[in-house]
Amino acid sequence: MTSSLATVSYIGATILFILSLGGLANPETARRGNLFGIIGMAIAVCATILGPRVTPAGIPWIIGALAVGGGIGLFAAKKVQMTQMPELVALMHSLVGLAACLVGFASYVDTSTVFPTPAEKAIHEVEIYVGILIGAITFAGSLIAFGKLSGKIGGKPLLLPGRHLLNLAGLLAVIWFGSEFLHVHDIQAGMTPLVIMTAIALLFGVHMVMAIGGADMPVVVSMLNSYSGWAAAATGFMLGNDLLIVVGALVGSSGAILSYIMCRAMNRNFVSVIAGGFGGGAPAAKGAAAGAAEPAGEVTPISAVETAELLREAKSVVIVPGYGMAVAQAQHVVCEITKILRDKGVKVRFGIHPVAGRMPGHMNVLLAEARVPYDIVFEMDEVNADFPDTDVTMVIGANDIVNPAAQDDPSCPIAGMPVLEVWKAKTSIVMKRSMASGYAGVDNPLFYKENNRMLFGDAKKMLDEVLGALNA
Ligand code: TAP
Repeated sequence: MTSSLATVSYIGATILFILSLGGLANPETARRGNLFGIIGMAIAVCATILGPRVTPAGIPWIIGALAVGGGIGLFAAKKVQMTQMPELVALMHSLVGLAACLVGFASYVDTSTVFPTPAEKAIHEVEIYVGILIGAITFAGSLIAFGKLSGKIGGKPLLLPGRHLLNLAGLLAVIWFGSEFLHVHDIQAGMTPLVIMTAIALLFGVHMVMAIGGADMPVVVSMLNSYSGWAAAATGFMLGNDLLIVVGALVGSSGAILSYIMCRAMNRNFVSVIAGGFGGGAPAAKGAAAGAAEPAGEVTPISAVETAELLREAKSVVIVPGYGMAVAQAQHVVCEITKILRDKGVKVRFGIHPVAGRMPGHMNVLLAEARVPYDIVFEMDEVNADFPDTDVTMVIGANDIVNPAAQDDPSCPIAGMPVLEVWKAKTSIVMKRSMASGYAGVDNPLFYKENNRMLFGDAKKMLDEVLGALNA
């Protein structure tokens, strides 16, 4: 493939990636967006392999690597449960970071490139230094995020004394070693500051994510997504690959926008998130899958038949899905119940919290998969004011996102996080298996409210019973 054909292919791929991102912004166009992304990536890979920078001798190596990497990816994608998706994404982000580090070191020891001027050599070295820095932070941070999301590492924030000072000292050391790195004249001498900086960046990545409490993980997930984009862009600079620069910048900036949206949803400060300095102040969260919090009152149970009765008599119903709906895979039966109620003239809507589940858009994906009409799916802000006029709210496997303590208890780890005010409806029904707490490990005062009922059991099983009772 000639160089100009490769460039045209790269431009085509870039346009497809932009269209893909545009498509993914809306559930109705998300499938098309995904398709654009797949086609764009296929073009990008082909243009790179067949492009002028790959010698024929290198092609079998690349095809071998593609077969191994593609095989692992296919296996992981087929095996992974929907609820494990966030962990898989975190793991993949870590690979982008690792790749940036490896490409950085390889570029540094590669003596085949001759730089016409010292300034160009210096620019290349800055690219290497910054690329490895971002790559190492992304790699270590994403591995810790993987551990936290999969429950292998506790969700409790690790708050070292003087952690902001530690971060600042790390930053100053990175700048100092950077200037050392740029001033040495041979590769061996340059390796020392490069390796030390990499070690500092790895420690910073670990520290940054370890300092974050369970409830704040959504922001970290989207922030690492952004970091992985910048790591890819840095790799593009090191390799002189324009497509990688553009794609990395697209992922980096869209991830940054998503982080900003997440910060707003969690009522957190964007700048302190970027600095890795949040998650403190509040008492330690018990963390992911923390188990039962101490019950703090009496709850009123309800049966599936009684739930069906309440739903049948309601004029307006708001369904609030959460992580438990994903675990139970209850979205299809939720859709069937919705259809029956709507046919009976009940106004049914869905209220989606921006951090419901374990990944951005988690609930939207599940509801779209079950073919719930988009026009009855609302964001938290669109539906929150309507709860006082709602007869029944059905909370399906959600917990933290409907916890009134976020508003009432300033000492709780999710204090300040906006929540769906389901308790303002005439009756709220919470479906879950036990009194266990949610991801943040906080007890939920909603369960003990007078107008709240608890429908205990697996969400899919209980909703099947509700459906049966509605059909009876
Ligand atoms: P959670 O607060 O985690 O609550 C989920 C509830 O579902 C649990 O209390 C659990 O109670 C119940 N459950 C689990 N399996 C169930 C099943 N088979 N049937 C019925 N119920 C089941 O979830 P949420 O309300 O969706 O809030 C999300 C939380 O995750 C937030 O704290 C958020 O910060 C965090 N988080 C979000 C993300 C993103 S990006 N969305 C990423 C990481 C973390 P039982 O065990 O009693 O059934």
